[in-house]
Amino acid sequence: MARQDREPVKPVQPLEAVAHEPAPARVAQLRELKAQALLGGGQRRIDQQHARGKLTARERLDLLLDEGSFEETDMLVMHRSSDFGLEKQRFLGDGVVTGWGRIDGRLVYVFSQDFTVFGGSLSEAFAEKICKVMDLAVKNGAPVIGLNDSGGARIQEGVVSLGGYADIFLRNTLASGVVPQISAIMGPCAGGAVYSPAITDFIAMVEGTSYMFVTGPEIVKSVTHEDVDREHLGGALVHNETSGVAHFLCASEPECLALLRRLLAYLPSNNVDDAPYVDTGDDPLRADPELDTLVPEQPNKPYDMRDVIRRIADVEGGALGPGGESTFLEVQPLFAQNIVTGFARLNGHSVGIVAQQPSVLAGVLDIDSADKAARFVRFCDCFNIPLLTFVDVPGFLPGVAQEHGGIIRHGAKLLYAYCEATVPKLTVITRKAYGGAYDVMSSKHIRGDVNYAWPTAEIAVMGAEGAVPLIFREQIEKAADPVAERARLVEEYRAKFTSPYIAAARGYVDDVIEPRHTRRKLISALEMLRNKRDSNPPKKHGNIPL
Ligand code: HXC
Repeated sequence: MARQDREPVKPVQPLEAVAHEPAPARVAQLRELKAQALLGGGQRRIDQQHARGKLTARERLDLLLDEGSFEETDMLVMHRSSDFGLEKQRFLGDGVVTGWGRIDGRLVYVFSQDFTVFGGSLSEAFAEKICKVMDLAVKNGAPVIGLNDSGGARIQEGVVSLGGYADIFLRNTLASGVVPQISAIMGPCAGGAVYSPAITDFIAMVEGTSYMFVTGPEIVKSVTHEDVDREHLGGALVHNETSGVAHFLCASEPECLALLRRLLAYLPSNNVDDAPYVDTGDDPLRADPELDTLVPEQPNKPYDMRDVIRRIADVEGGALGPGGESTFLEVQPLFAQNIVTGFARLNGHSVGIVAQQPSVLAGVLDIDSADKAARFVRFCDCFNIPLLTFVDVPGFLPGVAQEHGGIIRHGAKLLYAYCEATVPKLTVITRKAYGGAYDVMSSKHIRGDVNYAWPTAEIAVMGAEGAVPLIFREQIEKAADPVAERARLVEEYRAKFTSPYIAAARGYVDDVIEPRHTRRKLISALEMLRNKRDSNPPKKHGNIPL
C-alpha cells in the first residue's frame, strides 16, 4: 500500500490541553520549562514580531500543519556559546522550532526559524536541530518544509555558525531528488544563508516582509555605488518576476502557508512513492468543443495557453465556472512568462505541465524560459510525476543579448532535461513546432511516449515567412511581380510543409487529434503508461550544461 493511502495517524492531544491538570513537582517543572520554550525570545519580542506584520514561528506551524499533529523535537536545546555575553542569554529551543507533523494526513518534517530569539540567527545548536529533522526526513521518506526568518549567521558564534550552514547545505544537496524540499521566506534571508533555500525545490516568498540577497543594500552601495533598498534588491516581487529565484509570490503569511499545503498535494512524499491520487469528480471522457476554435486561424495571432490547460486538466466540481475550479497550480507564474509550468490533475493523478505561452513573446524559447522549464522538468522526473507538454513555439529568440547571454548553454539545459527524463512524457503540438525547438519540446525523438498534434499544428524547420526568402530568393527577384510571387510561394510552402501530416506520415506524432477530445486522449495515454519503466545508462551522474 502506498504510504499516503494509509490511515492518517490520529493527532495526539496538544500540550496545552493537558497543562492545566494537576501534576507532581517534577512534571510541573517540565511543564514550566516547556511553557518557557513556547515563548521563544519572550512576550516583548513576540509583540515586536506581530508589530512587524509577521506571525511567530509557532503560529506559522499551527497554520501549516494539520491541527494537533505537530510533534516537536529539541524543544530543550540551548546554545553552548559563552562569548560576547551569550552565556547570560539562553533561550530554550535556541531560535528554531523543529519537528514533524501532518499535512492532509501525510507526514512532513518542518523547521520554523524564530526571529524572537537572536533574530532567528543560526548557531551551532540551531543548525544541529535542522540537520536532525533533515536526516529523519531522508530516512523516513517525507518532505522537508523550512520556514525562514533569520538574521543569518549568529554573529557571536563566528565560524561555528558557518560550519552549521555548511552542514545544512550538504543535507539539502543529498536530500535533493530523494524527498521534496520546500522553503518559505517569511522575513530576512541574507548572505550565504540564501543557499539553503536556493538548493530546495520550491521557494515561496511573502510580499512586503521577506527578502533574499547575498549582500545587502549597504554593501552594494559601497562596492557598486548603487542606491537600492531591500525590497528592490531582493524583495518577493524581484525574485518572482526578475531573478527567477522564487516560485510563488504570496500576499500574506496565511496565504503562503495555505499555498504550501496545496503544493504538497501534487507531490509524492519521496522518490519511490506515488503522488497522492485525488478524486476530483471530473469526467475523464469530457469533450470540450471550445478547444476546436481556440487556436486562431492566423499563425501570428496570440492566445492564452493557460485556457487550453484549464480546459483539459481536471476541474474540481466538474466544470469551470461558479463552483468549478481548475486543478492547475502554476509554478513561477511571473517569471519568463513565455513558458508556463505547473501542476494539475488528469483523472485525479498529478501531472507536471510545461507549455509555451503564445501570448508572451509569441512563446519563443529564450534563456530564462529554458532555465525555468528545465528545472521544472527535472523536478518532475526526480519524483516520478508524468510530464505533459503543450507546444506552440516559433523557435529560439534571436539576438546578440541572447547569444552572448548563452542561449546555447541555457537551451541545452532544457534539451538535456527532456532527454534524460524517464517519466511518462505526453506531448500535444497545438500550433508551431519550428526548428530546434521542435526537437527540444519532448519530441518523439527524445523519448516522448505519446505525441499528438492538433490539425492546426505547423511542424517545420522554420515558418513559411522565413523559409521562402531563403530558398526562393532568385525566383522571387526574377518574378514580374516579386511581392505576389513571394506571397504565392509562402502559401505553397505553408500548405506543403507547415502541417502536422508530414510528421504524422512518419510516425513523429502518434496521431492528429480533434482538439475537443484532447483530455480523453491524454487520460487514456496516461493510463497506458502507468507502469512505464525506462532508464538511462548507469553512471555517477550526467553533466548537464549549467
Ligand atoms: C545575532 C542577531 C543577528 C545575528 C539579528 N540579531 N541578527 N543576533 N546574530 N546575525 C538580533 C539583534 O541583535 C536583535 O536582538 C534581534 O536579533 C532583532 O534584530 P533587530 O536588528 O532589532 O531587527 P530588525 O530591525 O528587524 O533587523 C533585522 C536584521 C538585522 C535586518 C536581520 O538584525 C541585521 O541586519 N542583522 C544582522 C544581519 C547580518 O549581518 N547577519 C550576518 C550575515 S552573514 P535583541 O536582543 O535586540 O532582540 C551570514 C553568513 C552566512 O549570515 C554564511 C553562510 C554560509
